[in-house]
Amino acid sequence: MKAFEFFTPTQIIFGRGCTKQIADEAKKMGKKTLVVTDKGLMKTGLVDPIIETLKAGGVDFDLWTDIVPNPRDVDIERGAEYAKAHGIDSLIAIGGGSSMDTAKAIGALMTNGGVCADWTDGNLKHPIAPLLCVPTTCGTGSEVTHESIVNNTKTLEKDCIWGPENSVTTAMIDSTMIDHLPGSILGSTGMDALTHAVEAYVCKAANPLTDGIALTAIQLISDHILPAVKNHDPESLDAMMAASTLAGIAFGNADVASVHSISEALGGFYDIPHGVANAIFLAPVSRFSLKGAVSRYADVAKAMGIPGRGESLEALASRGIDRMAALAEELQIPKFNTFDQVNPKDFPRLAKTAANADETADNPVMMDEADFVEVMTAVYEGRL
Ligand SMILES: [Fe+2]
Repeated sequence: MKAFEFFTPTQIIFGRGCTKQIADEAKKMGKKTLVVTDKGLMKTGLVDPIIETLKAGGVDFDLWTDIVPNPRDVDIERGAEYAKAHGIDSLIAIGGGSSMDTAKAIGALMTNGGVCADWTDGNLKHPIAPLLCVPTTCGTGSEVTHESIVNNTKTLEKDCIWGPENSVTTAMIDSTMIDHLPGSILGSTGMDALTHAVEAYVCKAANPLTDGIALTAIQLISDHILPAVKNHDPESLDAMMAASTLAGIAFGNADVASVHSISEALGGFYDIPHGVANAIFLAPVSRFSLKGAVSRYADVAKAMGIPGRGESLEALASRGIDRMAALAEELQIPKFNTFDQVNPKDFPRLAKTAANADETADNPVMMDEADFVEVMTAVYEGRL
């Protein structure tokens, strides 16, 4: 067995309505906190009960709503300057990956100083400021990963602040946060979580601890994603929230792989939502990669609830991959060629970005630029 490390320091508080205890948890972290969330979420009213709970609990806090998708370094640096100027010593993030990543990065600058570009080599010197996360989607797992993706406005590339110091103190996983999440977003973020779990299991960085966690996440998502989207019943929503966090722990301690290499390239270039891009490419990239990890993909099929029929492992694995494609269909994920901005002329450039992504090295089979062009073209033409 290969040597491995596993690191999950975050306190996880799970349960419907658990955010009613947020004031007690916030007061453990410090004297004054910055609540980081986005304006769109504020408009939905989802954040109001949490704000009221914090006020009723006597928590001293300021509100920071300057969050955008794909957080930029300059916004994070302004957040850190605000924190410094206003005696902030801790953070609460309410939202999806952008809010949580922004809060982590602000927390990193609060304790390490400098600007984002100083800390993108896994070189943080001090743990980030105490941070409590309340996820409001069931996909990113950012509440338990040790990364913050930051858009570098000078190079126009995505940087990453990462390392064990970049850990969340407490995650409050409350599925009432997704009671009213539109089905399309629940479906695509849930497919992001499924992609995290599948890639954590089949990638070259998998280890026995991440394996168990990833398979449980795959099982929960396979059983509950369609009922969650259709019925929004509490049991299914709980299962999706648990699975999203489990998948985050799994890929945070293993890796993702080439589905994410593509979805990140598409996110940066075309602004295609991350979960949608993953949902489109999960089955095709898995088909391409199957030969590198046949028994692993067969395990994925079993975790998805597909009964073996005494066929070969490859045939079983293949039926699992068919199920991934069927899920994307049933969730009405748009086809790759229906996005106006997608142009096959761009595929070589996107393939170069994907081939150079760190996670590409952990895909079950090596993929070069030509392979990525082939996969993107085949998906665009409906052949894979
Ligand atoms: Fe992802």
